[in-house]
Amino acid sequence: MDIAGRVAVVTGAASGIGLGLAGRFLAEGMSVVMADVEREALEREASRLDDGSGRLRAVPCDVGDPEQVARLRDETLAAFGAVHVLCNNAGVAGGRPLLKTRPALWRWIVDVNLLGVAYGIQAFAPLMVAQGVGHVVNTASEAGLIPAPLVGAYCATKYAVVGLSESLALELENTGVGVSCLCPELVSTRIFESTRNAPPALGLPQPPSIPIDQIAQLMNTTALSPDDVAGRVVDAIRENRFWIITHDVTHRRLRQRNADLEQGRSPSHPVQA
Ligand SMILES: NC(=O)c1ccc[n+]([C@@H]2O[C@H](COP(=O)([O-])OP(=O)(O)OC[C@H]3O[C@@H](n4cnc5c(N)ncnc54)[C@H](O)[C@@H]3O)[C@@H](O)[C@H]2O)c1
Repeated sequence: MDIAGRVAVVTGAASGIGLGLAGRFLAEGMSVVMADVEREALEREASRLDDGSGRLRAVPCDVGDPEQVARLRDETLAAFGAVHVLCNNAGVAGGRPLLKTRPALWRWIVDVNLLGVAYGIQAFAPLMVAQGVGHVVNTASEAGLIPAPLVGAYCATKYAVVGLSESLALELENTGVGVSCLCPELVSTRIFESTRNAPPALGLPQPPSIPIDQIAQLMNTTALSPDDVAGRVVDAIRENRFWIITHDVTHRRLRQRNADLEQGRSPSHPVQA
């Protein structure tokens, strides 16, 4: 798909990968709606990116609430009249060992990481199918392909996003609407500070939300920049490519996981970078 002149909606656009995507889409000549639950950061980053061309809007939105996602669609249509690219990117990583993951934490992570993607598809994909052109990019993670300890709930939702994306690609075959599934390993963002957006009722400690040292050791690789990831997403949209695997190490870990699976072995710890 040619993207210049098209309209993109990006959730989780006030920080990290989403912010990188919004900036890149604008630079490519698209109109962009930035959506995020963190209002101050959203306003700040939108004014920083706004070049006065009228191609940028910022819409506060909690993707875990289907009514807010439907409003995001309506505001996008009111502003730009169509939607061609949807990046279901908002996500949180409230890491805990599974034995310590309480129901409220599960619900928050599932609401944002999984249902947020599902609501985005439900609100926007029918428009794309009706216009016969569009592309949905779902941000999963390497953690949606390969298991990791200490982030079980996160892994569960990201595996779900991979499965959902694969089903969607099959359902949308021959509609003119493409699907991509973004599965990065480490990207330098504020993901480890996700609890900044957690409902206060969860009583989660404010950032950092997970043991950064252990995760860093586990991943043990250089983080990519959000801009680099955004460039790969643009390439995948242009080429209508499903998998966006950003790190070479993910391929090695996938080979190990697939071998475990085929040979009936229990999960291995991920190979180091
Ligand atoms: N950073 C990494 O290493 C990495 C690796 C793999 C996948 N991811 C995924 O990338 C996506 C983007 O995360 P990031 O790394 O840029 O982190 P980030 O924390 O820098 O950005 C995430 C953005 O999502 C927003 N957000 C959180 N809850 C929301 C909600 N309910 N509704 C709307 N917006 C909400 C946050 O306010 C923030 O602006 C996530 O889905 C994450 O799981 C990140």
